[in-house]
Parts: sequence; structure tokens; C-alpha cells
Amino acid sequence: MNQNANEQTDMTAQLEKAQAGIDELFQHRNDRWYPLCHIASKAGWINDPNGLIFFKGRYQAYYQLYPYGTKWGLMHWGHVSSEDLVTWRREPLAMAPSLEAEKDGVFSGSAVLADDGRMVIYYTGHRWRNGVNEDQGNFQEQCMAVSDDGIHFEKKGVVVPCPDDRILHFRDPKVWKQGNRWYMVFGVSNVEKRGEIWMYTSQDMEHWSFDRVIYRHPDPDVFMLECPDMFPVEDKWVICYSAMGTKPHGFNQRNHNNAGYVIGTWQPGGDFHQESDFHLWDLGQNYYAPQTMEAPDGRRLVFGWMSPFTEPIPMQDDGWCGQFTLPREVTLAGDHLRTRPVAEFSRLRKDTRDLGPIDLDVNETRTLVEDARTADIEMTIDLDRNQAERVGLEVHATQDGGHTMVCYDDQLGRIVLDRHSNTYGDRGYRTAPLDGHTDQVKLRIILDQGSVEVYVNDGLEAMSSYSFPSDGPRAIKLFSESGEGQAHISSLTVSALDTIWETPDK
Ligand code: FRU
Repeated sequence: MNQNANEQTDMTAQLEKAQAGIDELFQHRNDRWYPLCHIASKAGWINDPNGLIFFKGRYQAYYQLYPYGTKWGLMHWGHVSSEDLVTWRREPLAMAPSLEAEKDGVFSGSAVLADDGRMVIYYTGHRWRNGVNEDQGNFQEQCMAVSDDGIHFEKKGVVVPCPDDRILHFRDPKVWKQGNRWYMVFGVSNVEKRGEIWMYTSQDMEHWSFDRVIYRHPDPDVFMLECPDMFPVEDKWVICYSAMGTKPHGFNQRNHNNAGYVIGTWQPGGDFHQESDFHLWDLGQNYYAPQTMEAPDGRRLVFGWMSPFTEPIPMQDDGWCGQFTLPREVTLAGDHLRTRPVAEFSRLRKDTRDLGPIDLDVNETRTLVEDARTADIEMTIDLDRNQAERVGLEVHATQDGGHTMVCYDDQLGRIVLDRHSNTYGDRGYRTAPLDGHTDQVKLRIILDQGSVEVYVNDGLEAMSSYSFPSDGPRAIKLFSESGEGQAHISSLTVSALDTIWETPDK
């Protein structure tokens, strides 16, 4: 890498070209599964949430974007913003590759508010070692950019170069201020190809020095920890990461790559002392690379990417690919974290119907809604009195028999999200535990045009999965299956949801 890493070309021209790419793809966007209440790009491919920050009176959310097609490619930063976490506005694309250091992609990173009131972004400049693909590994460095308005960015170049040529993954800086120092963590595949999180510190935001390896993954098969984050909850610290190289075991880590966290304690200048086991953030098929931020009222929020890791990925035929999960509030719940949709999200509810309580006979199915594009469903199943083998909902239920099932399974003693009968996309199922709740289970299900999010027992567990219904009306049905007798739903409400978008795309 003998070229000057900070050599610049004109980013404005690159951004205009990228916007034209998005607009072109949008001309052919098919909206059958396009989200109405989840953040997504107007068109093109998106992955990780980036640069989450409350700045200039608005929540700013950036994301990894490929503007010229619906598969991962040369990474840019897209941008949306919201005053209230309810209604979102599209903003101009934020960053395109324009430095030698980021010639093959402006990779993930985070945003902070500097003492002078400006927004500072730290992100990874990415180059392929062989100039074309990952076969010989990556060449990655942490870069810095500043902005007065969150819209226009001035790139400052590399601030943390990679210290060892044998390191092939070195990316995704997350920065915060603690006392009068700045802290940065990012993911590294060390020279032995072990997944680690490194911590750097700085006094002036531009000069950074290595502090320590703050976390090493215990599994030698895990070769990289992408998108690490580190944040306080109550008197604890959480380290989270998206691990590459994990193997499935039992109900856990079933996805290609898996995002989770450990809880412990940490003091600036010291080591992290882990106290909890590893927990997945979300047990669905599609969840990865989450990033957290602090809201102005002190709440810790997390935004995840619904990662479509497994083929087929039918939304790729529709001019777009990828969406976020809902913004969730993170709180401590014993040895793990509770995550549930931010309270503001409920403002999108409309036409709420109270349908409970309901007693269901053995093998009974009841249609609750004939055709739902979106829904916010709250349902409590009485487990004390339950005699059914399975009880729950079929959502995205179409006339060809396709549906996604969300139910309590009495044999497993777990909540099941099953896409067995989906016509489009990957199938398979995932399950979540009840975490000791034996008398009842509370479910909240957020249905969008191409996805389902399930929150179990007020967010003690969450599951996010794509679900691509077939043509025609999309019913919501309640069912009870087999067993000795009735199933009892103690409460059930169904609301439709308004769109999050301030103005329709055109
Ligand atoms: C995670 C990730 C990050 C990287 C970005 C590239 O999904 O691989 O590690 O910065 O996506 O798009």
C-alpha cells in the first residue's frame, strides 16, 4: 500500500452518481414486501446501521449502502433522520469512497458529538489486498470525518492505521467519551486469526493510542468480531459483537454469523471483567451488526440489521434488499438484556381492536384479520390452563396455504417462529425460551410487508425474521393444535400500523 492513503477525489460527484443509481433502481422497485414501518433504503442493498446519534434535534441513522444493485458491493453511507423515532425522513447520501484508504468501501462506524458541537464520524476505510476481492484479505484502517450539519462531511483521513501487515480484518470503530478521554473499540482478527476487540484512547479525537485488547473470543474458530460496541447499563458494562466463525449448537447460533453480548464490569484504564454468559441479541433468522446509541433522555437504544444471509433472497428481484429492525430500548434484566420497541413506536398504531379473551377448541383456527399489510399484535397465552400442544398465530397467511407461524410449543416449552410453508425465501424455524415464565407468556408481534418481529415476555427475548408472503390477501389467524383440550388466550389486541415515512418515495 504505497499510495498516500489520504489522497482525495471529489466526493460530491461520487454521491451524485450514487443517488442516480438509487433513483434508477427505484424506477423498478416492487413494493410487495417493501417495509412500511422499518427503515430501509429507497432502493439498493443495505447492511449495518452506522453513525447513530441524536444531533441537531434529530435522530440520525446512517447505514451501509450499495447504490448500484441489490447485492453487497462498493460501500457508501446512506442516511435517514427522525425527530421522534416515529416518522423518518430520507436524507441525502452521506459518504461515498473518495480517499485512497477507502477506495474499495466506506465501511461501518459510529458518530459522536465533539465538544465544539460538531459531529465526528469514525469509520473504516477498506481496500482489498489483491485489488479485487477478499481472497488475499483486507487492508483496513480507521478514518475520521467531521460534519456541522450531519449532511455534509469533511474527511480527515486515517487516524488509526493497521499496525501489522498480517492482520486481515481490522474494522468497525465505535467511539464514546468517558470523563475527559475518548475511547474507541473495533474488531480485529489477530495474527493467529482469533476474534478480538481492541481498545484505543485519545485526548483530542485525532491522535489515538492502543490501550489494550479489551475482549478475546473464547472460541478459536471465531476469527473475527464485527461491529463491536461497548456501553454502560446501570452499574454494568456490556460488550457486544457480531461473531464470524461460530458453529450452531442446539437452539443457539443457528445463523451464518451471530450477534450477541456479554455483561460485566469495566473501569477506564482497566480490563473488562465478564460476569454473564454470551447471549444472542435476537434469536430470529435475520439479525446482525446492531449498533447502540444513547438517546437524549438517557435511554440506550439499539438498531439491528435484518441480515438476509441465506439464499434465496427474493427481495433482491424487487430493486431493494435489507431493512433495520425496529429501534429497541435496551435495559438490564438480571444476567441478560431486555430489548423492546421504543415506546414511541406505539404511536403508529391505528384501528386497534380488542379481541380477547378467547377460548380455542382443539384444532380450531379463527381468522382474526382478512388482510393485513402491517400489524402490531399483543397476545397473552395462559399457560397454567393450556391443554393444546401448540397455540399461536399464522401471519402472512395467503390463499395458497403459505404462512409464517408464531406459536407456543408445549413440547419444547418455547416460542417457535416457523417459515416452513413460505413460498418465497429461505424456510426453517427458530425458537426462544420463556426464561422461567411458566404461568403465562406475553407475545408482541410486529408484522411488516416482508418481516416479522416477535418480542417474548416484554422483550426478554426477541426474534426477527424475513417472511415474504405470496400474492393476495395476507390473513392473520389464531390457531390451537392437538392436545387434551382448550387453549386460552387471556388477552389479544390487533392494531394496524401507519407508515414511518414522512413522505412517499418518488
Ligand atoms: C458487517 C460488516 C462490517 C463491515 C461492513 C461492510 O456486516 O461486514 O464488518 O464494516 O459490514 O459492509
